[in-house]
Amino acid sequence: MGLLTPNQLKSLQSLYTIQLRYLLSTENQILKGLNSMIEHASDQQLKQAFQSHLQETEVHVSRLNQLIAEANAGDVDDKKDPIITALIGSGENIVSESDEGPVRDAGLIATAQKIEHYEIASYGSARDWARILNLENHAQLLQKTLDEEKHADELLTTISQRANQSAAVA
Ligand SMILES: [Fe+2]
Ligand SMILES: [Fe+2]
Repeated sequence: MGLLTPNQLKSLQSLYTIQLRYLLSTENQILKGLNSMIEHASDQQLKQAFQSHLQETEVHVSRLNQLIAEANAGDVDDKKDPIITALIGSGENIVSESDEGPVRDAGLIATAQKIEHYEIASYGSARDWARILNLENHAQLLQKTLDEEKHADELLTTISQRANQSAAVA
C-alpha cells in the first residue's frame, strides 16, 4: 500500500487527486472480485447482474484513467486501497465457507452491497471535491459512475428479496 508521506495532503486538490488514485485501485480490485462472484453465483439473475456491473466497472476504470490524466495525478500504480481488499477478502471467505447454492448467493449479495456502498461513499466525496475545485467536467463523470453504483445496489436489493427467501428454505 502506498503510504502517504507527511505534507503530501496539503490541499483539497491533492486530497482529490489521491482519492482518484485510490478509486482506480478500488475499481481494479473490484474487476477481479466480480469475475470471481460471477463464477461462484448460482442464481441466473444474480450472475447476470454481476456480469452487467462488470461491464460498467470497466467503464469506471476508463473514466478514472481519463480524470487522473487530466488532473496530472502522477504515477497511478502505487496506491492500493486496503478497505476494498478486505471487503473482497470477506467475499472469498463466504465462498470458501459455503457450498454452491442459495445460501452462498445470499452471502455474495451482502458482500457486493457492502462494496457498492463503499463506492457510493467514495464517489460522493470525490464528486463534491471536484465541484468545489471547479472541475465541473470531472464532477459530471463522477456523478455518472455514482448513478451506476446506486443502480447496481438497488438491483441487488431487488434480487436479494427473492434470493434470501430461497436461502431460507435451502
Ligand atoms: Fe465502480
Ligand atoms: Fe460498483
